[in-house]
Amino acid sequence: MAVLLTGGAGFIGSHTAVEIINKGYDVVIADNLYNADASVIDRIEAITGKRPAFYQIDVADKDRVRAMFESEDIDAVIHFAGYKAVGESVEKPLDYYRNNIDTALTVLEVMKEYNCRKFIFSSSATVYGTSDKVPFVETAEELGCTNPYGWTKFMIEQILKDTAKAHPALSVVLLRYFNPIGAHESGMIGEKPNGIPNNLMPYITQTAAGIRAQLSVFGNDYPTHDGTGVRDYIHVVDLAKGHVAAYEYSLKNEGCEVFNLGTGIGYSVLDIVKAFEKANGVPVPYVIAERRAGDIATCYASTDKAAEKLGWKAEKSIEDMCRDAWNWEQGEWSK
Ligand code: UFG
Repeated sequence: MAVLLTGGAGFIGSHTAVEIINKGYDVVIADNLYNADASVIDRIEAITGKRPAFYQIDVADKDRVRAMFESEDIDAVIHFAGYKAVGESVEKPLDYYRNNIDTALTVLEVMKEYNCRKFIFSSSATVYGTSDKVPFVETAEELGCTNPYGWTKFMIEQILKDTAKAHPALSVVLLRYFNPIGAHESGMIGEKPNGIPNNLMPYITQTAAGIRAQLSVFGNDYPTHDGTGVRDYIHVVDLAKGHVAAYEYSLKNEGCEVFNLGTGIGYSVLDIVKAFEKANGVPVPYVIAERRAGDIATCYASTDKAAEKLGWKAEKSIEDMCRDAWNWEQGEWSK
């Protein structure tokens, strides 16, 4: 019995593979390596002492997904595969809708053929849209998104809710991630953005390393404690452990449930810059720039439901996140 991780060679997928293997479960990874490196499989093995089965396939390719289900005894799927750049999704909406929705549908259809009943989905806090009712609670009704990437998450959530309703024996868990940062403490796996990073932490680590001249802080006139945007940053290893908890929950429960995976704490951009400088003793030069289109002022999670029903809570501090992100940036494995 194995857990299939689509997109399992990526940033969140690879950390989840490590935590699931550490808990004693077998892992199968399917990844087309569009945004990941084959060597990640070796590194997962180096960290855990156990090599996951690996299929270099596109999970929109139904015949190859079927062939994988034929060869492996897949008990559950954690679906990470998908395009994830917000800005790019605005430029290429059709690519995003086609890829993200197609991969989810294809995997679900093959699961149905093989009577595989547990599906855990990488959703995002982006489905809370422009709401200013923080903390974001799973029962929030006025959801909506500001970009096609977010809408793909929103639409796949709806597809899964409908599917779970029609097939009551299914167990579907929707995980709404807040802002995952940091890296495995071994320094062997982490986030490797293509080109100029869009997200804050990789931009900070590259600035500290001298790859970028300075960080642009997007806006200092938000209604927050220092005027810069507030987010709920969560260590990627804590997030990965949240997936283990969700998988174990799916073993015991049917139906569809949604959980936030965040810490419940909001830090501003300048809080993060200062925490990074303090944790690592390196300066992060920055300038204040214009607000970035589509950004909201404040976003952080209500963590009560995950604590109560999954028995999961994030444990790592902002110092851990900053230290591990810098350790990864400086190490040989991120090159
Ligand atoms: N920021 C900067 N400078 C940068 C990059 C970011 O000031 O160079 C600021 C942003 O304005 C924001 C904060 O840092 O206030 C975090 O920005 P990120 O781009 O790191 O993350 P977002 O909160 O915009 O987006 C993240 C994920 C999305 C997801 C969203 C859900 O990247 O995939 O959270 O809330 F949809």
